[in-house]
Amino acid sequence: MTFNYSAGELQIRGHKISDIAKEYGTPVIIYDELYMTGMMKKYHNILNSHNLSYSVSYASKAFSSIQMIKLLDAENMELDVVSIGELYTALTAGFPVEDIHFHGNNKTPHEIEYALDSGVRFFIIDGLDEIGLIDSLAGDLAPDDLVKVLIRINPSVEVNTHDYISTGQEDSKFGLSLSNGAAKIAIDLIDKSTHLDFKGIHYHIGSQLDDSTPFVNAITNVYAWLDEHDISIEILNMGGGFGVKYVDGDVRFPIESGFDRIIGHLKAVAAESGRGMPHIMIEPGRSIAAEAAITVYEVGTIKNIPGVRKYVSIDGGMSDHIRTPLYGAEYDVLPVREAAGDRAAVNVVGKLCESGDIIGQGKKLPADLKRGDLLAVRTTGAYHYSMASNYNQMQKPAVVFVGESHVRQVIKRQTLEQLIENDVM
Ligand code: LLP
Repeated sequence: MTFNYSAGELQIRGHKISDIAKEYGTPVIIYDELYMTGMMKKYHNILNSHNLSYSVSYASKAFSSIQMIKLLDAENMELDVVSIGELYTALTAGFPVEDIHFHGNNKTPHEIEYALDSGVRFFIIDGLDEIGLIDSLAGDLAPDDLVKVLIRINPSVEVNTHDYISTGQEDSKFGLSLSNGAAKIAIDLIDKSTHLDFKGIHYHIGSQLDDSTPFVNAITNVYAWLDEHDISIEILNMGGGFGVKYVDGDVRFPIESGFDRIIGHLKAVAAESGRGMPHIMIEPGRSIAAEAAITVYEVGTIKNIPGVRKYVSIDGGMSDHIRTPLYGAEYDVLPVREAAGDRAAVNVVGKLCESGDIIGQGKKLPADLKRGDLLAVRTTGAYHYSMASNYNQMQKPAVVFVGESHVRQVIKRQTLEQLIENDVM
C-alpha cells in the first residue's frame, strides 16, 4: 500500500502526512511518484511480453503538470493531448513532439495551427469536417510532411460505467459511426487528401471499466468492419479506461489477464482475416495516476443536528473534488491520526456554496474528530487537479510528489494575486 498507518498516523513511504500538510498547507494533493512510474513500467512489461510493436500513451487529461510530463518522458511513454493547453504544458516540459497525439471532438483551427506549427504530426480525427481543415492547414504550415491520422470510431459496444464517461456507443458526441457510413466516408476523404496519411483506427469506449469484455467485443466489431470494406490498418489504438479501486467493492481492471485476453483475441482475429498484427496503442490515464494520490484537508466546522446528521466541513470541496457532485463517485475518507476509539457516521462536506458540495456521505470517522484534525481522501490522483475550478474564488491546491527519500512540491498553491491576475483593474 502506498499510504499506510505507522506510529499512529498516516504515512507515505516513511514520510508523515501531517509533516507534509504542515509544510505545504491544506488542501494538498500528495502523490506517490513511484506508484505512477511503477504503473507505467507495468503497462510496458505486459505489452512487451506479447512480442508486439506497441506504445503506451498517457491521457494527459487525467493529471498533467510539468513534473508529471517529465516522469512520463523518462518512462518512455507517449502522450495524448486534447487542447492547446495540454499541448503547451507538454511542450514546455520538453516532451518530444513526435510522441504527442492530438485528440478532441472539436479541435479549433487555432489549436490545429498551433499543433502543426509546434511539430505535431499525429492527429486523431474525430469528425468529418476536421479532415479538410487539417489537410488545408497542413498544406500551409507543414507542406513537406505527411500528417499521420487515425480515425476515432464508435465500435458500438456496451460498457458498464457512468453515462458521462461511456463513449463507445452510437449516440455520442465522440467518434465516427461504423454503421451509418461516416467512418468509411472519413477514410475515403483522407485517401483523397494531400497531406494526411491514414494509419488506422482509434476508439475509447469508456472509463473506469473493470473487465476486458468490451475491449474484446470492440476488436471483433472493428475487424468485421475492416474486412467488410477491405481496409488495411497499421495502427490500432484501443484507448484507455482501465478501472481503478476507489472504494471496497470496486474492481480494478485486471491488467495482466485482461491484456492476455485482449491481445490473444486480437492475434486470432487478425490471423483469421489474413492480416498481420498492427502496432498497438493504449491510452491509460486514471489507472496510472488515480491511486497514486490522496488529498489532505483540515477539518473546520462540525455541525451536529441531533437525530438527523453530523456534517464535518473541510477546507476544500467541489473546487478540487468535483467527481462526487458530478458522478456520485464514492471515495474513502481516512483520519490522518490513527484512531482506535468509537467511530461515527458523518457527512464530509466542502466549504463551497452548494448543498451538493459533498466529499462523502455516511463516512465512519473517529467520534472525537475535531477542528484542526486532518482528513485524507484516497484515490484522488486522476481527474481531480485537472478538473479543479476557482468556484467561490477558491485557490487551486498545492501538489506534492513523494519518492523514496524526497518530498517535492510540483505545483504551488494558487495565490490570491493569481486569482485576479487577468482582471482588468
Ligand atoms: N483516451 C481517450 C481518447 C479518452 O477520451 C480518455 C478519457 C482516455 C484515453 C483516458 O481514460 P482513463 O484511462 O483515464 O479512464 N472526467 C472523467 C473521466 C473522463 C475521461 C475522458 N476520456 C472522470 O473523472 O471520471
